[in-house]
Amino acid sequence: MRVTHMRYLVRPGGQIIGDIRVPGDKSISHRAVILGSIATGDTGVTGLLEGTDVLATIEALRSLGVEIQGPEQGRLLIRGVGLTGLRTPNKMLDLGNSGTAMRLLTGLLAGQKFPTTLVGDESLSRRPMRRVTNPLAQMGARVDTAANGTPPLSITPVNGLHGIHYALPVASAQVKSALLLAGLYANGETCIEEPVPTRDHTERMLTGFGYPCTQHDHGVCVVGGGVLHGVQIDVPADLSSAAFFIVAATIAHDSKLRLSHVGVNPTRAGVLDILREMGAHIELDSQREVCGEPVADLVVQSAPLKGIDIPPDKVPLAIDEFPVLCIAAASAQGITTIRGATELRHKESDRISAMVQGLRELGVEVDEYEDGLCIQGGEISGGSVASHGDHRIAMAFCVAGVGAKFDVEVKGCDNIVTSFPGFLETAVRSGLRIDDIS
Ligand code: S3P
Repeated sequence: MRVTHMRYLVRPGGQIIGDIRVPGDKSISHRAVILGSIATGDTGVTGLLEGTDVLATIEALRSLGVEIQGPEQGRLLIRGVGLTGLRTPNKMLDLGNSGTAMRLLTGLLAGQKFPTTLVGDESLSRRPMRRVTNPLAQMGARVDTAANGTPPLSITPVNGLHGIHYALPVASAQVKSALLLAGLYANGETCIEEPVPTRDHTERMLTGFGYPCTQHDHGVCVVGGGVLHGVQIDVPADLSSAAFFIVAATIAHDSKLRLSHVGVNPTRAGVLDILREMGAHIELDSQREVCGEPVADLVVQSAPLKGIDIPPDKVPLAIDEFPVLCIAAASAQGITTIRGATELRHKESDRISAMVQGLRELGVEVDEYEDGLCIQGGEISGGSVASHGDHRIAMAFCVAGVGAKFDVEVKGCDNIVTSFPGFLETAVRSGLRIDDIS
């Protein structure tokens, strides 16, 4: 059952000032745990996100026989078992709220010689899995879903997988990564073609582990049967978590915030382009590369925003940032239109419907489309909104409180811990006038 008893209250105003480092990148943390587990030798991780999503991935790999020490203050030591060293778990693997964990592990486990069952919480149990199980079936895998294509997933061992060339019908880094992981266990080459680029952390990290992975204009290929070699990984701060504070500092008056060591991989950085087009003042300082990922310190200052039409080809590059982009749009002068974003309906909640409901509750004029929404910016009033059990909806509405006229109450802040443990403390420290009123 989804627990939604935590409520935060945000009072309008406050200056967003200082220097913060938000927790580690969720996508990169999951991949570090998974690839480190099937590498030969040890992998040390620093900066790991200790959110409950990543903890679920760690627990799953432990159940699969991998010794993992930590996490402690973002440090993890993984004693890799090699590509074929995973063992039969003695229980179902519970992946909680995490779509990334479930989809990536389905790809990893489809090529193992033992059966597994993957389950998740109420939200994850509603999410579509055929986008992964269908192409895996083409590779020869046997993965059964519930009748409507949702979890639980039962994976039955087969006599080997074979590589495929697969064109993704929907842009999804989770599906691409699941197929790449299955491809490590397949005979021959697995190539995945993308309709538009999506986050390429798996490709970069495979390369970091010394596993050949060929990226080309429209996709990526791997050949099965190679070896990953344990490495040291420093996980950058999560741009998706930073985005809440980027928008808060932009819409609050007289604010200046520095966010250190943030991942700015171009396949993730759509949010920066979109906000800049809206008028945001964001500078990238000390750009560098850390473990194959572009990283920078971001400096954000208050700026007046204007509404824009967000180009549909930018949507996959900012897919997780739309809840908070909607708050930026509501604070902007003029109309912002988001189209080509149907995928938002298949996240931890239906994020189009959740944002439309919440924004209307706060007095913002919004039109809803099947594939997006249109927001009349100008003024956020105040009121009480529901998170729908979705961490990013909860945090986005906390940011709405900064630019609102009256108090904003956000109900159901429990799941913030899936991606941003310590959100409340970081918010208070950076100047949000926020309290836990549970
Ligand atoms: C992720 C990919 C995205 C994103 C999710 C994390 C990943 O999902 O929304 O939060 O780590 O690969 P899709 O692949 O479904 O777009």
